[in-house]
Amino acid sequence: TVRSKRNVWTRKDTGNHWPVREDESHKGSHGKVGIIAGSANMPGAAVLTTAAAVRSGAGLTQLNTHKDIFGTVVNHIPEATLFNREDDLEAFIEGKDVIAIGPGLGVNDETKRTVEYLLNRFEGPLVIDADGLTGLQDLKSNIRERKHPTVISPHPGEMARLVESSPGKVNRKRFEISREIAVEYGIYVILKGPNTLVATPEGETFINDTGNAGLAKGGSGDVLTGMLAAFLARYENPQHAISSAVFMHGFTAEHLLEKGAGIETITASDIIDDLQGTFAVMS
Ligand code: APR
Ligand code: MG
Repeated sequence: TVRSKRNVWTRKDTGNHWPVREDESHKGSHGKVGIIAGSANMPGAAVLTTAAAVRSGAGLTQLNTHKDIFGTVVNHIPEATLFNREDDLEAFIEGKDVIAIGPGLGVNDETKRTVEYLLNRFEGPLVIDADGLTGLQDLKSNIRERKHPTVISPHPGEMARLVESSPGKVNRKRFEISREIAVEYGIYVILKGPNTLVATPEGETFINDTGNAGLAKGGSGDVLTGMLAAFLARYENPQHAISSAVFMHGFTAEHLLEKGAGIETITASDIIDDLQGTFAVMS
């Protein structure tokens, strides 16, 4: 039976499920994350997604992107390794524990083909965001057949395209629509915005109560995607990972304001930097 109760995922829940980093651990214990993001004119999306994964505890993070932006990426995130977009995807998915795809890829056939390939071949949690969500309706049966968690993180505009509706209607029926898609596709749905909703394939919903309008700026969604990938690599239970990542993303935006930052001036990069502070609060 489906619990239709509208759960709130709180700071206490996040704390109760916080992963332990064992003294005896090594980088392989904390997950190998693959990010497929960025393009020649959207290098920032790749940088933000990857940096957020690196900053959220992933053991190893590799970015698959256009080779023209390798230099830019290395300058921002020396911790990540790189994979040339033009090389064989099979080599990229080999050994990865989690893959996130979408930010800054552009809407094109290659993006869609890559999403389809991952749905069919990648054996691990897969996060699909932003441009990766385009045309996902056509891949419903590929999604349903996956034996590993699939996670989508649309904003209301992206969700509206998926369900062939309008952002306004999505916002009015956010519980119904996110649950319906989650159950129909057998996936985790993160419907973003103030009070982001997480719906599970079983039809449960979890409301997030952190965040502020300082996040209403380009790039903050990319940061969430990187966090989701790292959290999924660290947790056994996908819903715990997802709700905790969403919680921490918003909690960090609040933490910045408490420290005296301005709601107009905080940036996506500030969120990544301040994960230092909020992870310390939770640990
Ligand atoms: N209160 C709390 N959280 C918010 C608010 C708000 N008022 N506004 C936005 N957020 C959070 C969302 O919950 C989400 O986690 O900020 C994040 C925004 O994510 P996206 O909408 O994916 O934004 P992003 O991808 O960074 O930038 C927008 O999306 O539609 C494309 O082309 C468009 O480049 C643009 C990009
Ligand atoms: Mg986005």
